[in-house]
Amino acid sequence: MTEPDRRRVLYVIVCAAGPAGDVGKLVTLAHQRGWDVQIIATPAALDFIDTAALEAQTGHPVRSDYRKPGEPRSPKADAIIVAPATYNTINKWANGIADTYALGILAEAPNLGIPVVVLPFVNTALVS
Ligand SMILES: Cc1cc2nc3c(=O)[nH]c(=O)nc-3n(C[C@H](O)[C@H](O)[C@H](O)COP(=O)(O)O)c2cc1C
Repeated sequence: MTEPDRRRVLYVIVCAAGPAGDVGKLVTLAHQRGWDVQIIATPAALDFIDTAALEAQTGHPVRSDYRKPGEPRSPKADAIIVAPATYNTINKWANGIADTYALGILAEAPNLGIPVVVLPFVNTALVS
């Protein structure tokens, strides 16, 4: 049964690459399309983003670690975008490493049936 008033939840997973600072633009576009947006940052990405501004924009705390006991759960994701996705996170994800909260979410997504879109941001030397 569907929940009639529940907005679809989009997790935006942000990794530590230059475009991370522009993730607010993606939040705006997602809001325009009716998504409730939850930002998940890798710990390294925290240096690239304006956490307070994103929290004000999304209405949710930026998550970069597993919640502590007693802290509220984030709303469950209907879809996930990884943008920008770093070489580091892409390769750890491919190898089943889940040493960040972001990677833990990505590891669980297939079994939970959550679609994931990935926007790699990797220079040509790393790509090759
Ligand atoms: C200024 C700066 C820019 C970076 N840009 C990129 C990038 O575009 N792509 C990338 O894969 N790594 C980039 N890195 C390296 C990543 O930040 C580094 O590998 C980090 O460990 C990634 O952590 P994460 O995957 O957990 O976010 C950059 C690092 C710095 C300091």
